[in-house]
Amino acid sequence: MTNIRPLKIAGIGYCVPKTVITNDDLKKLYDTSDEWIYTRTGIKERRVVSGNETAIDIGLTAAKNAIEKSGFKPDDIDCIIGAASAPPQLYPTLACTLQDKLGIGGNVPAFDLTAACTGLIYALQVARGFIGLGIYKTILIVASDNNSKITDWTDRGTSILFGDGAGAMVVTESEDGVDDILTLNISADGSIGQLIQTNFPSQCCPLVEQAQEVGNGKIIMNGKEVYKFAVTTVPKYVEDCIEKADMKAEDIDYLIPHQANQRIIEAIQKRLNYSDDKVISNIKYYGNTSAASIPIALVEGVEQGKIKLGSTAILCGFGAGMTWGAAVVRLRKGIC
Ligand code: UT7
Repeated sequence: MTNIRPLKIAGIGYCVPKTVITNDDLKKLYDTSDEWIYTRTGIKERRVVSGNETAIDIGLTAAKNAIEKSGFKPDDIDCIIGAASAPPQLYPTLACTLQDKLGIGGNVPAFDLTAACTGLIYALQVARGFIGLGIYKTILIVASDNNSKITDWTDRGTSILFGDGAGAMVVTESEDGVDDILTLNISADGSIGQLIQTNFPSQCCPLVEQAQEVGNGKIIMNGKEVYKFAVTTVPKYVEDCIEKADMKAEDIDYLIPHQANQRIIEAIQKRLNYSDDKVISNIKYYGNTSAASIPIALVEGVEQGKIKLGSTAILCGFGAGMTWGAAVVRLRKGIC
């Protein structure tokens, strides 16, 4: 690619709701145990929104944190991309609502894209295109999900997994000519889309025949098949992306994967032959927070001293669609 402008990751932030639901708490809903959940998923607890709190509130805090770290002002942002699988409303979109709440003003585009748990990687690819072509200069990406609002809390096979959370990134045209995206690839296979579905309640015009099946707006998941897909397709894809970019896994400092299941994280780790200190996992405390899981793990990893900035990391995501993607990025000092 020639004349593509380089991208700088300028700031990253996150926010999780305060309310904690432990595995033991879930025993009040159905027959389960901390031992069953922890051994199969690595999850001990998750955060959930409560009362009037939604993905907008936590997304706003994550966005403010990312903007502050980036050194930009809200007015410098010239495009906003929301990456939400479970926003509180279809429209106005998460991005438009946050544009208003951040006081960014009406002259910049704001839209959501839906790639479920791969949303952040997809949004980063779109932002890369915009910045690369010089269409927009400084872009805010917000991945925020209130999964708890679309979880079927009677289904013990899925409701154990998900949690709520938000992550945000400010990316901008790099002034020093250094591109923070070393490689980035995204993919999808709609033919296996039925593995994770959320079907809205719907109706036909009352003057015509009604549909036989009407969704209830809750997540329906074939956990076993998603697991098989995740441990076969994703590790190989990550490895291929690294190879195609003429890089070596051992030269990259960290793996920051989507936090869906500790065993899936370990499958990717094994494929890359990484030691535990290179792999960032916080699924134990947050469960699967969809597209927000990578930025939450990244910033928390820095806060806890597990990640030293001035390094490189593989980010990889996968989820409903089915969608998946992987990026190798440079993590500059001061971004979070
Ligand atoms: O972003 C992508 C998001 N999705 C994923 O990453 C999901 C990937 N899949 C998984 O993580 C696993 O499939 C789960 C952890 C969701 C489920 O584990 P599994 O080993 O596939 O369990 P299963 O659904 O096959 O159920 C095995 C047994 C069943 O009992 P029987 O029929 O063998 O008697 C279930 O009824 O475990 C039972 N079971 C439970 N038992 C206690 C299912 N959920 C629970 C539970 N507590 N919460």
